Amino acid sequence: MKYTRMCLLLLVAALATGCDGPSSSHSSQLEAASRQLLPEDPGIAAIYGRSCRSCHTVAATGAPLTGDASAWGPRMDKGMDVMLDSVINGFGGMPPFGLCMDCDAQQFEALIRFMATPAGTP
Ligand code: HEC
Repeated sequence: MKYTRMCLLLLVAALATGCDGPSSSHSSQLEAASRQLLPEDPGIAAIYGRSCRSCHTVAATGAPLTGDASAWGPRMDKGMDVMLDSVINGFGGMPPFGLCMDCDAQQFEALIRFMATPAGTP
């Protein structure tokens, strides 16, 4: 009986630390880092700011975060053509054109390369 109670207490303690434990603070750190990043080219930066950024810096949207190498690695492995197709046709929670209706393929490619570049890379 006493033993069960202790297990329960340990469980509660584990759940409590789980709420802002390592995994969620890791993703909020990634979010904070992603929000600091902007493409160098002013034109691409403007598009990024009014479209891609609203989802790709917010983990809750399910979008791979800008600069998050581990999220982008496996996606980029599919190849740039597949990435472009995903944006143009929409993919999962991402609407077609990633909300940039007048973007061309070259601009999408620049945006994708920017977001997939690991944070901290010059
Ligand atoms: C409304 C939110 C939203 C916006 C705006 C948005 N995305 Fe996304 N994006 C997502 C989500 C969510 C995913 C992950 C979808 C999944 O894996 O199911 C994603 C995934 C991607 C992928 C990976 C696709 C794949 O095949 O793995 C690329 C590339 C991408 N987005 C590029 C862009 C670009 C470029 C823009 C801006 C022009 C943009 N996104 C704007 C939500 C968004």
